[in-house]
Amino acid sequence: MFQRFRRTRLNKHLRSLVRETNVSVEDFIYPLFIKSGEGIKKEVASMPGVFQMSIDEIIKECSELKKLGIFSIILFGIPDTKDSIGSDSLCEHGIIASSIRAIKEVHPDMFIVTDLCFCEYTDHGHCGIIDDKNETVDNDATLEISGQQAIIHAKAGADMIAPSGMMDGIIETLREALDGAGFKNLPIMSYSTKFASGYYGPFRDVAESTPSFGDRSSYQMDPANRREAIAESVSDEIQGADILMVKPALAYLDLVREIKDATSLPMAVYNVSGEYAMLKMAGQNNLIDYDRVVMETMVAFKRAGANIIITYHAKEVAAMLQK
Ligand code: PBG
Ligand code: ZN
Repeated sequence: MFQRFRRTRLNKHLRSLVRETNVSVEDFIYPLFIKSGEGIKKEVASMPGVFQMSIDEIIKECSELKKLGIFSIILFGIPDTKDSIGSDSLCEHGIIASSIRAIKEVHPDMFIVTDLCFCEYTDHGHCGIIDDKNETVDNDATLEISGQQAIIHAKAGADMIAPSGMMDGIIETLREALDGAGFKNLPIMSYSTKFASGYYGPFRDVAESTPSFGDRSSYQMDPANRREAIAESVSDEIQGADILMVKPALAYLDLVREIKDATSLPMAVYNVSGEYAMLKMAGQNNLIDYDRVVMETMVAFKRAGANIIITYHAKEVAAMLQK
């Protein structure tokens, strides 16, 4: 009779000793949504616990995060004015550039990642400039202004740039732009493997970035394509990305593992708004043991191969880990 597996499960200390995967507060990047103004802290209906905040509130929030041991954040800007090319994101007085400077002044020890895209800044809500036929994004025209946006972030003091628009050739373009402007040591975390997903629904409310026409299928990936997902990640590695990402996370953990095996770069997962909302709503309705399911989910990301977890649950998990 085979009786090997029970012996290491009986004692809790031995269970810890043989545990293959651990979650640590150092694994997390916490997303923050910044609005201009003062004293604004507005909860998002579809994402309880997630807020749009003005810069003064963000600065207070960073103090809270540090107490929990979270030092890495990713910033999303919600500008006052939007136009066809997303001018606010190309201006050193825009919402993101001013926020980075303001946060760094008070919290020089925070590690600030910036989401680089145009959908929050354009009046049409797409992730780049629209083509002449008014059908979808003009990839190459968008590349040209993406370099400008990266330099705005870099000059303001960003610690890492994370392009999320899925424009073809973006990593090569940004690397060249950053190197040319003297930011050779600034890392790029690519949203390398980002699917055209229904799981982004709540985010588009909080970031006010729903496309006014069409969808993002002409630039984001088809959820059905595994080989293409691996190829796109490998391409980003070759173009010079420092970290790769799979997004959304839960329904795509097979690809986290496969991309980890196919490349030599660190891997991030983005545990997106819809994934967060599903657990929140199930927890609030007492359908699941919320804390337990959240932790189980984080373990699954690590087990699949993620080094970094971008998640709205980060504060809750940090508090659980402190207990
Ligand atoms: C913008 C962007 C999106 C997310 C991160 N950056 C939305 C989108 O592509 O529509 C999604 C984040 C989330 O759902 O939590 N390009
Ligand atoms: Zn976008």
